[in-house]
Amino acid sequence: MEKHQILFEAKKIRKVFGPTVAVDDVDLTIYAGEVRGLIGENGSGKSTISSIIAGMQKPNSGSMQFKGKTYNPVNMIEGGQLGIGMIVQEKGTVPGITIAQNIFLGSENQFKKYGLINKKAMNQAAKQVLENIGINDVDPNQVIDVLDMQDQKLVEVAKVMNQNPDILIVDETTTALSHRGRDIIYGILERMRKEGKSVVFISHDLQETMEYCDALTVLRDGKLIATVEKEDMEENQIKQYMVGREVSGHYYRADNKASYEDQVILDIDKLTTGKGLLLNFSAQLHKGEILGIGGLSHCGMHELGRAVFGEEHIVTGSVTHVPSGEKIENAQVAVKHQMGYVSKNRDSEALVLTANIRDNIVGAGYDQVSQKFGYISPKDEAEYVNRMVDALDIKCASIDQDVKYLSGGNKQKVVFGKWLGRDSKILILDCPTRGVDIGVKAAMYQLMEDMKAKGASILLISEELTELIGMSDRLIIIKDGKISGEITRGEEMTENNVIELLI
Ligand SMILES: Nc1ncnc2c1ncn2[C@@H]1O[C@H](COP(=O)(O)OP(=O)(O)OP(=O)(O)O)[C@@H](O)[C@H]1O
Ligand SMILES: [Mg+2]
Repeated sequence: MEKHQILFEAKKIRKVFGPTVAVDDVDLTIYAGEVRGLIGENGSGKSTISSIIAGMQKPNSGSMQFKGKTYNPVNMIEGGQLGIGMIVQEKGTVPGITIAQNIFLGSENQFKKYGLINKKAMNQAAKQVLENIGINDVDPNQVIDVLDMQDQKLVEVAKVMNQNPDILIVDETTTALSHRGRDIIYGILERMRKEGKSVVFISHDLQETMEYCDALTVLRDGKLIATVEKEDMEENQIKQYMVGREVSGHYYRADNKASYEDQVILDIDKLTTGKGLLLNFSAQLHKGEILGIGGLSHCGMHELGRAVFGEEHIVTGSVTHVPSGEKIENAQVAVKHQMGYVSKNRDSEALVLTANIRDNIVGAGYDQVSQKFGYISPKDEAEYVNRMVDALDIKCASIDQDVKYLSGGNKQKVVFGKWLGRDSKILILDCPTRGVDIGVKAAMYQLMEDMKAKGASILLISEELTELIGMSDRLIIIKDGKISGEITRGEEMTENNVIELLI
């Protein structure tokens, strides 16, 4: 690609939070018509610099130029008006109001007539905005809460695109989305490029960034390490830039044969969930087994995870903890039997955002600390939490830091650490590696293997085929709420065979 016209330029951008230098004197130039990938490990500063560019926060020092003029937005609204839009990493919609109200939040006045908002006109316009990005099956007059996390994310995409930005920043959106949602984003990237506009695209999926980006800028510890043009992209080299050392290829489990005990730990029997997304689903989880659950995003697999943990309304069927004979009817029973659950939706289900790292991790691990020591001294507690922080390389100023200030991937690690430390016997993992960088991903897979070796059982729900194939003893594929097939670890467990069951 020929790069001539500079659209945006940042000089020596710096942002510190207490002892943390989140962005360390970064220079960044974005050209018109390019899709620029922004990559780096968790906590390397991607979201921070992006939010500065979008006007959400101010740098401590440095300057920016946009379309040839000094650019210094006071907030995100002004950034948007000037032509820079951002789809944020965490949830960006407002609950309790309609989809249309979300889309036109802050710009409702265009629908005002005689002092009143013309709701009909607003809904009509919202419908059009959604259709513009290819969503035809959503009624904008509904309260946004009826949509699942992924569709809520797409509403955000529609909202930002409606402002017709010259630069669109997509912060780790694709990993939160279903295949359909991802395709919508890829379509937008293509369209922006064709129109001579630019995209800053953040993702931990290196394959994806290499495929869709014209160049990749790598951040490490807040510093800009390198920018690699498409023709020079080489996976190992890029990983090395990200991590700062050579990374080995070993990732998933090395054996190619199912191995688990005969003993059934969980019996899922003819389960149908309230929203009707899961129909008459039966499966058994064995001791020491990693049972993979795959499917397209709306197939019912996320409901399965919640249902097994006792958190989803069940219409018929049951989940039984076989060793005790007890039915898992709510999360208390689940926790009593040393079950843990890592939800895909970490902000609303898995973490107490206003609490610190210590309380989030100890909240779940309480038993273990107290059993061992009889009572919890602050010192024991801190030691225990620090062990989790080390094992998962959670980047934080201290364990007393509020979780809401952690980078996206580091939040995910806290969720994982919460259940890991508890010595869970049964783990339900719903997209556990979402948004975590390659190094930590490898560590998480290793921890899963360790737990399996210790006789724990894992229900691994994932949208990543490579992860499912890499880790599962058995793999069940769900389609439209029903089992479409099952594959046992071995020669048959190939990507092609799985895809055939998926679609
Ligand atoms: N408001 C804040 N208060 C304190 N620390 C913060 C705040 N925002 C970010 N940080 C810290 O700045 C660093 C960079 O965070 P940032 O969110 O930019 O990382 P990231 O590259 O987006 O990571 P991820 O891939 O996990 O999303 C992290 O150490 C983070 O904890
Ligand atoms: Mg981030």
